[in-house]
Amino acid sequence: MCEHIYIHIQIIQLSLPISFSMAAETASPLPSNPFPSQPTKITSIKTLAESTGLTSIPATHTFPPDLHGQVTSVPEGSIPVIDYSLLISGTPGQRSKIVHELGRACQDWGFFMVINHGVPQKLLSSILDGCKGFFDLAEEEKQEFKGNHVLDPIRSGTSFNVSVEKAFYWRDFLKVFVHPVFYSPTKPAGLSEISLQYSQRVREIARGLLTGISESLGLEGSYIEKAMDLERGKQIFIANLYPTCPRPELAMGMPPHSDHGLLTLLIQNGIGGLQIQHKGKWVNVGTHSNSFLVNTGDHLEILSNGRYKSVLHRAMVNSKGTRISIAMAHGPSLDSVVSPAPELLVSSEGDEPAAYIGMKYKDYLELQQSNKLDGKSCLDRVRISAV
Ligand code: OGA
Ligand code: NI
Repeated sequence: MCEHIYIHIQIIQLSLPISFSMAAETASPLPSNPFPSQPTKITSIKTLAESTGLTSIPATHTFPPDLHGQVTSVPEGSIPVIDYSLLISGTPGQRSKIVHELGRACQDWGFFMVINHGVPQKLLSSILDGCKGFFDLAEEEKQEFKGNHVLDPIRSGTSFNVSVEKAFYWRDFLKVFVHPVFYSPTKPAGLSEISLQYSQRVREIARGLLTGISESLGLEGSYIEKAMDLERGKQIFIANLYPTCPRPELAMGMPPHSDHGLLTLLIQNGIGGLQIQHKGKWVNVGTHSNSFLVNTGDHLEILSNGRYKSVLHRAMVNSKGTRISIAMAHGPSLDSVVSPAPELLVSSEGDEPAAYIGMKYKDYLELQQSNKLDGKSCLDRVRISAV
């Protein structure tokens, strides 16, 4: 079986327009990798996953099952829920309650769900469909958008960064910069219009949440907006495709990592797979069709001097259906040099040392994107002391 799978991969590399299942049945198994010194170049897990009769997965995509670790279930309703409508148009009393809840969620979880956000369900399903349309394009068409550099405004590919990885994730992706300059792939038809609408709506929500988060830190509401130059803030649209996997216990959609920005807002089709780390244990987030799943990123941790830690999270795959998620990352402007807010380093109890050195967001982003995705290793580079 392994050899058969290997043949699949070679065919994908050549991008030949032939049926993979047929090829696997008719070609004779290769004794070994004819290019042992070269990593196998695979451009799409979707193509491999869709080959009929796939009952196993290639060694290139296999992770030791113990990496999956134990997953705890948390009591129903314990993941924080933020009612966005109360943050935006609630009474002063309701609003200050939500600000408090936001602060607690950032501090205790680094994660929360946002309900009553006002984005029509229709727009959410249209953007998910648009992304599906992108992943359904022919491999050659997707290759037009593969990009060459990690800071290229449009990039598509598989896994996270195949040039540095030894084992690959069961994931294809499309990453697009949508602010301050809006980009979009030109295919499939209609994606760019929907993406513009969706990006603007989500950006508004992220700004509203960041206003509340500023206040929860005891800062002025507009503090983060100004300090992070959000007027020119980097907003990145990341569509993830996790095809049905015959051996989900051996594969990984995305490894444990934290996001580089301030806040990420995620939606998904009806299939769950996101897990977050809470008090050292992995917790299934599940599916919540009409809410945004929001996680704090490294730059909120830096800005808040460690009060709000970025949350570790990962994506699991399953054998029941293809999952699509859209993570919208919101960060400072590329040329912001981010260090802990000076206002948070002085208090009546005395001065608090800065726990992170300043780094230009562009350099941080480049560092994170050009390496392996590995926990919070990027943040460790700017951390001064254990916090
Ligand atoms: C991401 C991410 C998780 C998911 O794109 O950064 O963490 O569930 N995605 O797709
Ligand atoms: Ni992430």
